[in-house]
Amino acid sequence: MRKPLIAGNWKMYKTVGEGVELVEALLRDLGDTHDREVLVCPPYTALHALSSLLQETPIMLGAQDVFYEAQGAFTGAIAPGMLKDVGCQYAIVGHSERRQIFGESDELINRKLRAALAAGLRPILCVGEIKPQRDAGQAEAVVVGQVKAGLAGVSASELLNTVIAYEPVWAIGTGDTATPADAQAMHATIRGTLAELYDQATADQIRIQYGGSVKPDNVDELMSQPDIDGALVGGASLKADSFLRIIQFR
Ligand code: 13P
Repeated sequence: MRKPLIAGNWKMYKTVGEGVELVEALLRDLGDTHDREVLVCPPYTALHALSSLLQETPIMLGAQDVFYEAQGAFTGAIAPGMLKDVGCQYAIVGHSERRQIFGESDELINRKLRAALAAGLRPILCVGEIKPQRDAGQAEAVVVGQVKAGLAGVSASELLNTVIAYEPVWAIGTGDTATPADAQAMHATIRGTLAELYDQATADQIRIQYGGSVKPDNVDELMSQPDIDGALVGGASLKADSFLRIIQFR
């Protein structure tokens, strides 16, 4: 049984004080989460403060990105071990904003993912097509290619610590979410790819999150799809009431 993972990617939002306020509000009204996992991914600057606040609570902490070297002259970069040290359990890699704005390649993302795994972090590998690729009927090929390249050199036991997030780029921040049926179809394709790369039993254990305009009013239907095992939430994770409703999907 795959335990759904509901994650908030705060992107470049929230000061330390604002982050603390949001997490305190989440903890206050979190309710029963025994059958789901909850994760917040704040900016690096808020990780330390939130790590203390989240200790002994059901909410886990993750980073939005990670570098692949353990230390060295890499101005501006953060090492996997540093994220572990500050209390992170997860790190997002390959978010479409990293791919598009920062020009990250599949190869770089794969190095980050393997470094995260080696340090004992659980990577969330983001994949997703842009609109012209979907319109041209290339969405599946693009996503399968990103999954294969992102997981190059990853063993089956490492895969068990990896989460995939399908985030169609045209659905991010647009309010234009994929239909549950379209999302399900892509998730099934991704799981089929994992079965091909590894084996069916391994593929069946891997959580595949959907991301892209997940909101309180569409989360229940998305989460009812058999291959959707969680949500990676941007905008709606920045407010306690909307993120709590998403966490409490039915
Ligand atoms: P939105 O939920 O704001 O569309 O963002 C999705 C996302 O990019 C999460 O990583």
